[in-house]
Amino acid sequence: MKKVLAIQGSFRNNGITTTMLNHAVDEAKKAGHEVEYIKLHDKNINYCKGCRKCFETGECVFKDDDMAGISKSIKDADVIILASPVYWANVPAVVKNLFDRMSGTSMEETNTFPKPRLSGKRYILLTACSTPMPFAEIFGQTSGLKRNVKEYFKTSGISCIGTVACGNTTKCKEVPKAKFNKIKKLISKI
Ligand SMILES: Cc1cc2nc3c(=O)[nH]c(=O)nc-3n(C[C@H](O)[C@H](O)[C@H](O)COP(=O)(O)O)c2cc1C
Repeated sequence: MKKVLAIQGSFRNNGITTTMLNHAVDEAKKAGHEVEYIKLHDKNINYCKGCRKCFETGECVFKDDDMAGISKSIKDADVIILASPVYWANVPAVVKNLFDRMSGTSMEETNTFPKPRLSGKRYILLTACSTPMPFAEIFGQTSGLKRNVKEYFKTSGISCIGTVACGNTTKCKEVPKAKFNKIKKLISKI
């Protein structure tokens, strides 16, 4: 039994990425894993102010918002499932701010390369965009988001189990069965 943290990065509770996340959560529970669900838009999260104190201490200086609880959930989890739509070829602001606020909790600065502070954990990425495949990959939409998500997780020492990406979501308003199957397969690897 693993501790799974599901992070909803879309405001839309019935959107494509949230639907994929709900499916992943159902499969994880069926497999006997313990699941915690965080909806980022329900949380009060200040913007990172770039003071860099967290790189020394491993903790953010803000103590008056929901970030300490989220940070603890990430530290406690074995597997993080991040559901994040593509906004301007990247993650939405609320997800980007999560990465910014997690900086010093996730890695230590050294004179050379950063040293990960969350090694041993793994992640699954669920994403969606309106550009059809394969253009979303070729022209940097899903591939742009994936690059940024990988940068955060890799630097934190968190390795990837796999990614599921849906394209053409303006036309295809439902998650294709093949994508649900892929999610199930990834959950079986936890
Ligand atoms: C502010 C904003 C920016 C977006 N930027 C892109 C983009 O750069 N490329 C793209 O293919 N789709 C883009 N989209 C479309 C979303 O990725 C798409 O609607 C996706 O299905 C949203 O995920 P959700 O259904 O889980 O909310 C954007 C949508 C919004 C609202």
